[in-house]
Amino acid sequence: MATNRTFTMLKPDAVEKGHVGAILEKINASGFRIVAMKLTQMTKNDAETFYAIHKERPFFGELVEYMTRGPIVAAILEKDNAVEDFRTLIGATNPAEAAEGTIRKLYAASIGENAVHGSDSDDNALIESTFHFSGREMF
Ligand code: RTP
Ligand code: MG
Repeated sequence: MATNRTFTMLKPDAVEKGHVGAILEKINASGFRIVAMKLTQMTKNDAETFYAIHKERPFFGELVEYMTRGPIVAAILEKDNAVEDFRTLIGATNPAEAAEGTIRKLYAASIGENAVHGSDSDDNALIESTFHFSGREMF
């Protein structure tokens, strides 16, 4: 996979609050092409595997509980400099620190429930994309 792709999840809080349409609009308006997308729900094992890097952190249990409590929208996005540009578009992990106009500033409630995920490197974008999608689901 090219390095101009990133992986995102619109997290359970964003889906619950009906923010999917507005967030996808912002993603489109920011020049990302949707390569793959689906509504899905992670199992406990899925979330523990996906966020394994955080397993020693104090918030790990809450994170797994949160990410599995309802459906998410998983997607692969394509654009020049996709990983970095998408992290800019979503804003800081803590919405209180996120820049004006970012997705987390607009739609996230707290550092724990922050509406959206974005890959933090090209390597992780590929790992996370293939965790959620088969080759037949990428366009
Ligand atoms: P993400 O991986 O979801 O895109 O978020 P991120 O890179 O901005 O932040 P990261 O450090 O990777 O944390 C992963 C997710 O764990 C939850 N979290 N809770 N309660 C807390 O202090 C805390 N810190 C992180 C958030 O859902 C965060 O997005
Ligand atoms: Mg992260």
